[in-house]
Amino acid sequence: MQMELREFISTLEKYGYLRKISHPVNWKYEIGEIVRQNHTQPLLFENIADYPGCRLFTGGFSRIDYLGINLGLKMPVNRKSLLAHLRKGLEKPIESVYVQCCPDCLYKAADEVNLHDLPVPWWNPLDGGRYIGTWHLNITKDPFTGKRNAGVYRMQILGKNQTTVSASEKSHLAMHMKNAERLGKDLEMAMAIGVDEVLVLAAASSVPFGYDEFSFAGALRGEGVKLRQCKEIALEVPLEAEYVIEGKLKCRTRVKDGPYLDYAGKPAINPAAYLFEVRSISSRVDAIFRGMAVGRVGAEDHQLFSILSALNLVDFHGSALRQRVQNFFLRYRMFSLFQLSGRFSAMVKSLKR
Ligand SMILES: Cc1cc2nc3c(=O)[nH]c(=O)nc-3n(C[C@H](O)[C@H](O)[C@H](O)COP(=O)(O)O)c2cc1C
Repeated sequence: MQMELREFISTLEKYGYLRKISHPVNWKYEIGEIVRQNHTQPLLFENIADYPGCRLFTGGFSRIDYLGINLGLKMPVNRKSLLAHLRKGLEKPIESVYVQCCPDCLYKAADEVNLHDLPVPWWNPLDGGRYIGTWHLNITKDPFTGKRNAGVYRMQILGKNQTTVSASEKSHLAMHMKNAERLGKDLEMAMAIGVDEVLVLAAASSVPFGYDEFSFAGALRGEGVKLRQCKEIALEVPLEAEYVIEGKLKCRTRVKDGPYLDYAGKPAINPAAYLFEVRSISSRVDAIFRGMAVGRVGAEDHQLFSILSALNLVDFHGSALRQRVQNFFLRYRMFSLFQLSGRFSAMVKSLKR
């Protein structure tokens, strides 16, 4: 059975894991600081300054117990049984299901779009701005084959209808973009925020090019992921997504992303990120924003990479040696060393430039 984000949040609450933060908090720095201080706890912010009625969830992946709850595994979860469950999913992918209906959504067309209407934190004073994409899905299709890709690539707000998308040159999104640019076209992209956590796990995994990450997620759930058609573009998104942002990556256009405190705990800049131009935003009634504060040792992204490394599903697109070293640190949960190795490779890369 699928578990949409809001159902996961209430399940965590039943288990006594959820902490609700109902006093007023500032989206600028304060949310990020609270998340870093409570980095192993699921948090629901219910009172965000300037965003009355908006909520933000974080921390759903910060311990494997939470993932075990999400997948309906027997508690307490041990890493071995969790990995066995995930391995089984890779063997028998389940195709997604396309549905016509759609939950009640508030819809904003191009002329009404303003990304600043979303409760997006400025996660860290070292960041160059507000990051809307920290724990989400980027969905695209290969313009030649029509095959879908879902990944997680950070996104910084640049204006009311523009963001960056910082994808590694060897990522599958970059391959789609290369093909679109060969045709001289923009690439349609949908961003889904606030989805079933298993979808984020599947999207962050380095499955082969052309393999549909949603079918991996389907297998983990034992049923196909329910997808609905986007409104403006020819892509499908998870039915239960809290927010769906539709738009296009602009052909042959690159922009600066960052600085951004990344997984290595150091501010990084990508001078050649893609430019995403937003065409519409749909949000569920009482939508819950999902994001995370990257940069702390053992944060949610490290926990996720650690699980994926045990399945050989992490690819940092570096040398084979670097990959082996990083896999080792991740598997044995040596997150400080993992960060150090990330910093070292960033330094080597900058010396080569
Ligand atoms: C929280 C989080 C943030 C990530 N940010 C980025 C990013 O900014 N750029 C990038 O290339 N990969 C990033 N990744 C890693 C990719 O999601 C991962 O490499 C995935 O395999 C990419 O999909 P692909 O294999 O279909 O290209 C991130 C992963 C996570 C979990």
